[in-house]
Amino acid sequence: MENKINQIRTEAIEKIEKTTNLKELEEVKNQYLSRNSEFNNLKKSMKDLTPEQKPVIGALINKVSNELNTLVAQKNDLFYKKELNEKLLKEKIDITMDGDYIPLGHVHPLTRTVNEIVEIFNHLGFSLINPEFSPEVELEKFNFDLLNVPKEHPARDVQDTFYCANLPNVVLRSQTSNAQARQMINSNPPIKIISPGRVYRNESVSARKNNLFHQIEGLYVDKDVTMAQLKGVLNEFIRLYFGSSRPTRYRSSFFPFTEPSVEIDVECIMCKGKGCSVCSGSGWLEILGAGMVDPNVLKGVNIDPETYSGFAFGMGVERLAMLKYAIDDIRLFFNDDEKFLKQF
Ligand code: PHE
Repeated sequence: MENKINQIRTEAIEKIEKTTNLKELEEVKNQYLSRNSEFNNLKKSMKDLTPEQKPVIGALINKVSNELNTLVAQKNDLFYKKELNEKLLKEKIDITMDGDYIPLGHVHPLTRTVNEIVEIFNHLGFSLINPEFSPEVELEKFNFDLLNVPKEHPARDVQDTFYCANLPNVVLRSQTSNAQARQMINSNPPIKIISPGRVYRNESVSARKNNLFHQIEGLYVDKDVTMAQLKGVLNEFIRLYFGSSRPTRYRSSFFPFTEPSVEIDVECIMCKGKGCSVCSGSGWLEILGAGMVDPNVLKGVNIDPETYSGFAFGMGVERLAMLKYAIDDIRLFFNDDEKFLKQF
């Protein structure tokens, strides 16, 4: 029996030595150390030994068993580390490698300007209009009639306004003020909304004018709304949009739907007020038309001008973007020139 044990020992050691990976080691382990192994069967047959032989053989079996288990454990440890290292090497990420280039999109400067202005007016308590009340294709009634624009007013002329060829009284709106009329006819005061959108005018295109551009309309109707509030709101808007350092001036003006009316100019950013081709030598650029809603307009939309008053304003988005970012040609907004757009 002693011989048998030693023979198994020599064989097992040799095989363990020869293994080169965890899988082979597992096989050898099964063969020599598992429950059904020859070695284990020897343990079972110990019961047939004489009392003298028992402790001797028992000690030998224990010794060999410990020896083999230790060897397997050592090899196991070795292979485990080796395989782990190989795996780590294989899966290593080279952080110095070039990544895939995914170009970033840009928010169009006009969208960015509209978002900025809307945010300022939200902050001043104005909500965004329901888009149903601000259509681009509009009836003359909302673009002109309800805004107190007389039938013979030159703005209605086809030279200024685009009419639909086959639909009588349908125009591409020439101003976002149509939203005022629709909002007032569809709701009761207090009303405090802004309405950004596209407008169309039949102009010859130049560095300063395009036949499609954007406006933002504002309307506030409630009891006791005053011109002082109009000035307060618009001054605050200008301060927040341009920063406090921008000189502005109010000029009295005329719009059919407001009385009194004003226009607001900001000092020309290009020449800092000295006078240049962008501001036609005046040193100022108009950014806003505004005024107190004409009582005739309120009457037309069934709001009692004895109880309610309001102010309205309309501003040109391109103009405001040009002034803030020193852009000297309105056509740049519409040309899809990547070199221009990438700067925003
Ligand atoms: N709708 C006017 C324009 O397009 C601007 C404006 C709006 C003026 C509201 C007064 C009140 O010029």
